[in-house]
Amino acid sequence: MDWVSDDSADSEAAGPGHIRLLDQTALPTAEKVLEIRTVDDLVDAISRLAVRGAPALGVAGALGVALAAYSLPADDVPAAAQKVRDARPTAVNLAWAVDQAVAALPQGPDAVLALARQIRDDDIASSQAIARRGADELYTTLGPDAQRDGLGLMTICNTGSLAAVERGTALAVIEEVLHDGHLQRAYPLETRPLLQGSRLTAWELQQMGAPFDLLVDSAAASTMRRGIVDAVLTGADRIAANGDTANKIGTLALAIAAKYAGIPFYIVAPESTIDVQTATGEDIEIEDRGSAEVTAIQGVQTAPQSTTALNPAFDVTPAELITGIITDRRVIHPAAGERPDDALESPNHR
Ligand code: MRU
Repeated sequence: MDWVSDDSADSEAAGPGHIRLLDQTALPTAEKVLEIRTVDDLVDAISRLAVRGAPALGVAGALGVALAAYSLPADDVPAAAQKVRDARPTAVNLAWAVDQAVAALPQGPDAVLALARQIRDDDIASSQAIARRGADELYTTLGPDAQRDGLGLMTICNTGSLAAVERGTALAVIEEVLHDGHLQRAYPLETRPLLQGSRLTAWELQQMGAPFDLLVDSAAASTMRRGIVDAVLTGADRIAANGDTANKIGTLALAIAAKYAGIPFYIVAPESTIDVQTATGEDIEIEDRGSAEVTAIQGVQTAPQSTTALNPAFDVTPAELITGIITDRRVIHPAAGERPDDALESPNHR
């Protein structure tokens, strides 16, 4: 995802232009690039998950405010920014990045664009730090025998480079373990209803050359009981001050199954996903995306016409089920009583 200036081929040039991003709804069958020229087009892309994943939403949100600042009369920019902010409610990175970009508006559009690029660059650095810290945390927790035999790592949804700018979060840790020569096998879950696991994570695992087996979501618990999974790693959309964490629907079931199987369960996210203003998971708004995504799969109706469905896109995993939250700066151990807002030196988002 980047900003393309109208006046220059230089990828870091400022000035009026548009946002270019890979349409995640078309993957893995097509690599289609979207050119986003209006705020309404960006809101549409976010709403239908053409761009998705908490860190990527943050970068898209900030670029969206830059787009508004360049293309709209000054009086219309705050309302346009609010539309971008409201496009999805659960991932805090979107609101956090839009708010920062709005605060830069008095300095003009070039300053907003520079800030959006800073958020992008920070995310790249943070993914890099997360990958290394996560791999080291796994080796410490699981011990030298598991490291020698190779790790079986389960994950849900998509938390790779598509969900961030480069590398990602939980999938970046899996990639790091692969590069270290310690990945036995990855077990991505397909992630109904929108199949981010099979469409996007399987695609990214293939591109990185990782050995993996795709699982239907309902195979997670029994696969853990087979003894081939050493740890479960997922991303996060919002982490409350007490460590309760919202992530893709199905994550809570993984945490419960991991506890029963005696397997460590990790949340992997940048510090910007920690929202110290949200006290507990009960305060997190969970997006419901309506019946159609559940009653049909990729446009093919699978339930009787007029069936209604509950379609929460996320669930909340209580802190007590989370072995560790791995961020770019630290590892917090909520199940052992540590809280994300303990000893927080300088939260980078509030
Ligand atoms: O609905 P999505 O696909 O945007 O949900 C994404 C997730 O739940 C991810 O796990 C989360 O945003 C972290 S991405 C690094």
